[in-house]
Amino acid sequence: MTSITILGIESSCDDTAAAVLRGQAGDAKVLSSIVLGQTELHADFGGVVPEIAARAHAEKIDTCVQQALDAAHLSLSDIDAVAVTAGPGLIGGVVSGVMCAKGIALARGIPLFGVNHLAGHALTPRLTDAVAYPFLMLLVSGGHCQFLIVSGPDQFQRLGGTIDDAPGEAFDKVARLLALPQPGGPAIETRAKAGDAKRFKLPRPLLDRAGCDMSFSGLKTAVLRQRDSLMSDGELAARDQADLAAGFQAAVVDVLAEKTRRALDEYAPLSKNPSICVAGGVAANMAIRTALETTAKNFGAKFIAPPLALCTDNAAMIAYAALEQMNTRVPDGMELSARPRWPLDQAAPAMLGSGKKGAKA
Ligand code: KG4
Ligand code: ZN
Repeated sequence: MTSITILGIESSCDDTAAAVLRGQAGDAKVLSSIVLGQTELHADFGGVVPEIAARAHAEKIDTCVQQALDAAHLSLSDIDAVAVTAGPGLIGGVVSGVMCAKGIALARGIPLFGVNHLAGHALTPRLTDAVAYPFLMLLVSGGHCQFLIVSGPDQFQRLGGTIDDAPGEAFDKVARLLALPQPGGPAIETRAKAGDAKRFKLPRPLLDRAGCDMSFSGLKTAVLRQRDSLMSDGELAARDQADLAAGFQAAVVDVLAEKTRRALDEYAPLSKNPSICVAGGVAANMAIRTALETTAKNFGAKFIAPPLALCTDNAAMIAYAALEQMNTRVPDGMELSARPRWPLDQAAPAMLGSGKKGAKA
């Protein structure tokens, strides 16, 4: 396989992204990676509004591609292939990306690869750390939460995931309950530093049930009840706010650490050098990172967290996934369609719930 220059496009949620990579599977360089966020457009609505997201993607996608080409000091004529997120995600956004990629592939006569967004996240440790297959991946973001054994570019076994909210979604909702700003994750992490995590007895959902499935919605409701019992004149005291933030974060940490231990138990016999990798915005949380690192260490597994810019939504991961997959699959034709749902592990039972950022696969 020779080195190729590939353009990646991502528009499945609230980031319009384009990137250019050069190389091949296991050895690729990110020449540019542009992410145009939409946070301010959705700020007044307490979540991503699909119609607003779709319009913003349609407006920005071509300039985003141009910016990625400019940053790589290349033009479209230098591109050998184009990769695009074809799902899962908010359908209006995915359609924008797919149409843009088809236009480029058709105009240039180059191969087109529709990529599963979750495969992009899951294969990122191969781009950043050349991690050997099979490795364990924990995806934790505002829209996703699942454990996957990644055995090849298109071989994913889901060990479990959330049955309701994604952890980032829970951080965002709890931040709202505690009158903290959005995005909730960083706000709660900062506030929790001043709090006493042990003051309130908050639940650790599903720890009493075998397996790797998780639930975060009941924990959020427990925080709501506790908050309501503490409010006076519609106000929450600063001490109570910090203690609730700390208690909530500690509960998420405990759930993720214990479920990670169980996932490692299932996966480790498959690998001589077991590795647990994380991706997604929630992986930025230091308390969570430290707990996962300790869990991995106790297990004798390597812990890998790609740099944050490649952990959160981006198009470099989409271009890279195509580089991995193109050795074992044919390109897509102009019939490539956008898919709102697209489970990575087709054999696993369908997951319940649907996060604010779109259907979980
Ligand atoms: O991966 P991401 O950027 O976007 C998608 O969800 O696709 O993740 C965003 C989520 C938000 O819910 C945000 O609150 C959460 O990641 N997050 C954090 C932290 N930083 C971001 N959650 C906990 N602690 C953090 N430090
Ligand atoms: Zn994502």
